[in-house]
Parts: sequence; structure tokens; C-alpha cells
Amino acid sequence: MFVAGKIFAVIPAAGMGTRLGAGIPKAFFELGGVTLLRRAYESLVAAGVDRVIIAASPDMHERARLECPDAVIVAGGKERADSVLCGLDAIADQLGHEAGADDVVLVHDAARALTPVEMIQRLMVVPDGVDCVVPALPVSDTIKQVDEQMRVVGTPARAALRAVQTPQACRLVTLLKANEAFQRDESGDFCPTDDASLIEWFGGTVVVAPGDERALKITHPIDVVIAEHYLA
Ligand code: C5P
Repeated sequence: MFVAGKIFAVIPAAGMGTRLGAGIPKAFFELGGVTLLRRAYESLVAAGVDRVIIAASPDMHERARLECPDAVIVAGGKERADSVLCGLDAIADQLGHEAGADDVVLVHDAARALTPVEMIQRLMVVPDGVDCVVPALPVSDTIKQVDEQMRVVGTPARAALRAVQTPQACRLVTLLKANEAFQRDESGDFCPTDDASLIEWFGGTVVVAPGDERALKITHPIDVVIAEHYLA
């Protein structure tokens, strides 16, 4: 085990939040009077992250700056992965930091606003020989894999499945290299929905650590009800 060098966090917060239907980008939706973005940012700061970078749509930058005064704020991209990349680029371009072997970056969805600080702190130490640690929970549903005709083509053993959350703690150099390789890849047959899958695709080692129910991704209106329950 080693204690990380610098610890960065990138918050992709440029999603529209269409499924939540709040009429504003989801990161700026208020839960108990505080935006999801501010809650996520403050948890990362409380956990001891050195610098936080937020990727948000330009029309929300002023608001983001007010709510997260010490964060670096950059424009997001078309997909989540593009927004994460914009955030990663800022580490060198805006902070002038050259990635070292022991640096860690936590990529954390603003939508997981109630993630406990202790869970974030547990993830900040990436073991030797590991490139990425992701918080995960066992799944309670049986999961089917289907083809384009909706025919079931497989049922993975449930005991071996995990639902993953964020923050995902990656070695900064590995995530940068995985992103570079992905930018060069022209096959178009891989669409990463999280950062760990990009590292897996690149050939890195990803392990899971215990997640927490409170780190739920606030996506649909029912999630707001659950989150309010946790807040109460
Ligand atoms: O849409 P979804 O809930 O999967 O988004 C996860 C996170 O990625 C959210 O915090 C959202 O704001 C962010 N995102 C982004 N840029 C996009 C799409 C989503 O930063 N283009």
C-alpha cells in the first residue's frame, strides 16, 4: 500500500438531467436547499482532496464559482466521458501539474451528492499493482444480457455482479493514458459509461471496495424522495 501523491477530483457536472425533469442541469438541482454540486464538492474537500475540478456547461460557471469557490471550473463535453476528459486536461493546462506516479484522481458524479466523506477517504489509497478502485454494492436483481432483438443471451451469476458507484479512484497517469488511447481508437465499438471501464479496456487492473447506499445516483424523481429520506 502507498499513500497517494497529490489527490485531485474531477466532478462531471455538465449533464442536462433530463430524466430528473427539474428544468435545470441536474448538478444545480437543490436537495434540502443545497445544490447537488455543492454537496458533492464539499464532501470531496472534507475528505482531504487537494484540488477539485468541475466540468459544467458555460452558462452555469458563475453559479458553480459561487458555490465551489476553490474549484477549477471548465466547460463540459457532449458525453460524460468528454466532460471527464475536459477536467483531466485542466490538471496540466490550468494547474500546471505534471502527473506523477503516485497521483490519484477521484472522478465523482455530482449526482451522487450524499456520498459519505468516510467512503471517499477509504478510496483515496490505491493499493500497489492496482490502477483503479471503485465503490460497489451487491445487486439484488437478477441481471439478463439481451441482444438487439431483446432475446436473452445470458444470465451472469448474481453473486459475481456488483453495481458500481463513484467516486472512482484512478491512478492519474493510467487514466490519462487510457483516455489518450481511447481518443486514438477509431473502431467506435466501445462507449465507456464510467472511468473504470476505460481503464479495464486499456488493460489496467480495477478492484472494488465497499460502496454505500447513500451514494445513490440521483437520476429519477423517486431518487429525490430516497435522498430526502437519507437527509432526514
Ligand atoms: O447522465 P448521468 O446521470 O449518467 O450523468 C452522470 C454524471 O455525468 C452527472 O453528474 C452529469 O452531470 C455528468 N455529465 C457530464 N457531461 C455530460 C453528461 C453527463 O458532466 N455530457
